[in-house]
Amino acid sequence: MADTSKRKLETTLFGQKYATPLIQAPIGVQSIFNPNGEKGIAKICSELGIPFTLSTAASSTIEEVASAGRDGPRWFQLYWPTDDDITISLLRRARENKYNVLVVTLDTWSAGWRPLDLDSGYLPLVNGVGNQIGFSDPVFRAKFKEAHGIEVEDNTALASREWLKIILSGSVQPWERISFLKKNWPGPVVVKGIQHVEDAKMAVKFGCDGIIVSNHGGRQLDGAVGSLRMLQPIVEAVGKQTDVLFDSGARTGSDILKAFCLGAKGVLIGRPTMYGYAVAGEEGAREVFMGLLADLDQSMGMTGVTDLQASNTSTIVSSNEI
Ligand SMILES: Cc1cc2nc3c(=O)[nH]c(=O)nc-3n(C[C@H](O)[C@H](O)[C@H](O)COP(=O)(O)O)c2cc1C
Repeated sequence: MADTSKRKLETTLFGQKYATPLIQAPIGVQSIFNPNGEKGIAKICSELGIPFTLSTAASSTIEEVASAGRDGPRWFQLYWPTDDDITISLLRRARENKYNVLVVTLDTWSAGWRPLDLDSGYLPLVNGVGNQIGFSDPVFRAKFKEAHGIEVEDNTALASREWLKIILSGSVQPWERISFLKKNWPGPVVVKGIQHVEDAKMAVKFGCDGIIVSNHGGRQLDGAVGSLRMLQPIVEAVGKQTDVLFDSGARTGSDILKAFCLGAKGVLIGRPTMYGYAVAGEEGAREVFMGLLADLDQSMGMTGVTDLQASNTSTIVSSNEI
């Protein structure tokens, strides 16, 4: 009998209000889904007020995506380069192009073992597709020219290898280096790929403004714990000190609602929008977002939740308790 006719789907992240709880997850190499790549999704996100997170491994440049996304909210995801001059250059470009949240991915210092990709030789980055942020970076270009005496365009295979050595190097930056990012980034710094309470505590200790509980869609470590399973313990440990977001496996409105009930403040959507984009272009991606939001709205009505931000564990029952 509860009146649920008016429902609020907005959320507040790092002190900023967003019209919906959704964020487009960083997905590399979007030109494999549609020739317009990241630009098409950035445009749709902008129309819907959904933050678009641009991957470092993009097939469009930081500037092109900013221009396609116009005045919509945009975030920049960093695969943290080994070369500080290049990191500073990427952050400067993102800042100047009005990306306002920095997402630092911590679960991909190198790519996971992906047998299907290896069997089929499917490695777009090695073949120069998805390196456009590096290839357009003035500092990377200058260093490449100094080392090899040629421009990036003269040997894109070599330039790809050099770029990948910098962004997917396999070497890890220690927690103490978060301060280096904070010195060069005035906005919120959010770490993505947290799956352990102790790591979440470290993120808070070293001043991160947010945490994305994610297992990279199960693509990095075979047998990794289900991301949703780790959400509640992490929220319990650090949810009062930092904003906790969730991804990996949200496919329906009730998935999003469950994540909020467990304490998430935002849910990143990765593959669903890419599938829509691959099947039906920008319209397809828009339909996926709109479908998820309509489903979420209905699911809130069904469960008696009128304000997503006020949802809590009283609305859900763990399968262990049934
Ligand atoms: C094709 C593909 C490319 C991805 N590229 C990136 C990336 O460049 N940076 C990143 O942080 N995460 C990347 N991810 C992980 C996503 O951001 C997200 O964590 C994952 O897909 C889980 O969300 P989903 O289940 O909604 O797809 C990628 C995932 C996929 C499927």
